[in-house]
This record gives sequence, structure tokens and C-alpha cells, in this order.
Amino acid sequence: MKTQKRKRVFALILALALTLTVFTGCEKKPAKSGDSASVLSAAEEHARKRSKADQKQLKQDIEDGYLILVNKENFLPSDYIPEDLEELKYYAKDRSPDARYLKETAAEHFHEMVEAAQEENIDIVSTTAYRSYEFQKNLYDYYVKTKGQEEADKVSAKPGTSEHQTGLVADLSTSEINYVNGSAFGTSKAGKWIAEHSWEYGFIVRYPEGLEDITGYTYEPWHVRYVGLVAAKEIHDEDITLEEYIEENHLGNSIKKVVSEARNDDETDNDDETDDDDGEDSSSDKSVKEKK
Ligand code: DAL
Ligand code: ZN
Repeated sequence: MKTQKRKRVFALILALALTLTVFTGCEKKPAKSGDSASVLSAAEEHARKRSKADQKQLKQDIEDGYLILVNKENFLPSDYIPEDLEELKYYAKDRSPDARYLKETAAEHFHEMVEAAQEENIDIVSTTAYRSYEFQKNLYDYYVKTKGQEEADKVSAKPGTSEHQTGLVADLSTSEINYVNGSAFGTSKAGKWIAEHSWEYGFIVRYPEGLEDITGYTYEPWHVRYVGLVAAKEIHDEDITLEEYIEENHLGNSIKKVVSEARNDDETDNDDETDDDDGEDSSSDKSVKEKK
């Protein structure tokens, strides 16, 4: 009798242990890109956490094309030129004047960001921001010539695949490193400030360290991309890349939309244009001096 009772207790403990194992085994794993069930819940999770105002702002930012994804797989047509380019106030004076522009909203936030850094005695300038297809072509060709294609592809985008062409990107530098672009920016006062604060102004450090398998490029602490205030905060808080954010939130790619809107606007604008002199000499020595 005693043995039977012991057997029953043992069976009960075994059943309990099995149930526990099964439940812990079923625990949800953290979201991984490509796992559609967890990707869906990440999108829902994001939406749930956002205030109504943030949700509305994000929707507007998507509409405005600030979440456009340009990378090795998603490229822009050679004739795409963003609308509303505005000249920046803070730029490295020895760099090409053709690359001193950002789209208006990105430029406004860029100015606010640089001025906030200045209040802490940190100087930040743009070395190149918007770069035309031809500008990028010269740059990329220069890297291929000097480093070989394999190395060039790790640091420089083929023309049409550079997000500099969107007008939403600026490469940054500072007096401390003599206004060059390079890994030294990451450890400069300005670079540390950018890593900590750029999201507050709608920018992200687009190519983080160790994530080249996702972004396609090695670490670029100097390359910041405007994505709007809501997305920048979420990308920063989650410590993810733009590629992952777009996938998690099912944002797709807005290249076609952005390009076709620019084309329609061009048609309207061109009605009263008399001279469209594209006199830029992008093959000048100056443009190939620009980094990445
Ligand atoms: N250096 C970045 C990847 C570019 O060329 O756009
Ligand atoms: Zn860049």
C-alpha cells in the first residue's frame, strides 16, 4: 500500500515537471528578423507603446518618405533628385559645395542638433550630405581604383544605392579630428555626443559596429540618417538597424512612391522653368576627395 502511494506521488511529481518543461519550452523567443510570428507581435508591441500623437507623427513621416530604405538591394533611379533641398549652415569648408544640402525637414533638425552640441562646446559639421548619382559614381569608382572592388563595397555604395542620394543623410566631422571622416570620429567628443543624442533630433547612426551583415557596410560613426523623431527614438531604444525596424513594423519600401511623387512634382514645377543648367562638375578632384 505504502509503495503504491509513493508511486502515485512520484507520478504526480513527474507530471508536474513535464508540464513545467513544456510551458517553459514554449516561452516566446525574442523577435528575430524573418520569423513572421514574432515579427507581427513586435509590430503590435510597437504600436501599443506609441502615444496617439507619436502614431500620427510616424504615419506622417512614412508618408513624407523619411523611412525610405536605400541599400544594396533597394536602389534609386539615376535621375532621382530629392525635392526641397536646403543648404546647410554648418559644413566643412574645403568640401564640395554641391554636397551641402539636405531635405528641408532634415536640414532643420540637423541645425537644431548641431546647435545643441555647440551649447556643450562641441563642434559638428557636415562633410557631405546630399550626393547626386554622378557624385557617388565618382566616389565609388575612386574607391574601386584605390582599394579594389571587394574592399570598396564594404565602405562605399555603388551609384544609385547610396542613401546620400535621398537628401536625408549627412556625414559628420569635427575640429578635434581635423574634419576628416573615419573611425576616429566615433571616439571624438562630437562622435560620442552624436551616438548619445542624435535620435533626439530624428537621426540615427545608420551603420553600427558589427552589423555589416545586416546593413551591408562596416561601422560608420559619422554617417547619420534622418528618419523622423518617432522612428529614431524607437530604433535607438531597441538598438536595431533601419533594415530591422522596417521589417518589424511591416513598412515595406517606399522608393517607388517617393520617386513617383518627385516626378509628378517635377512635371508641375517644370512648367515655368526656363533654364535647367546642371553645370555641376562632379568629376572634379574635390568630389573624389570626399569620404564614403
Ligand atoms: N558610405 C556609404 C555606405 C555610402 O557610400 O553611401
Ligand atoms: Zn555617408
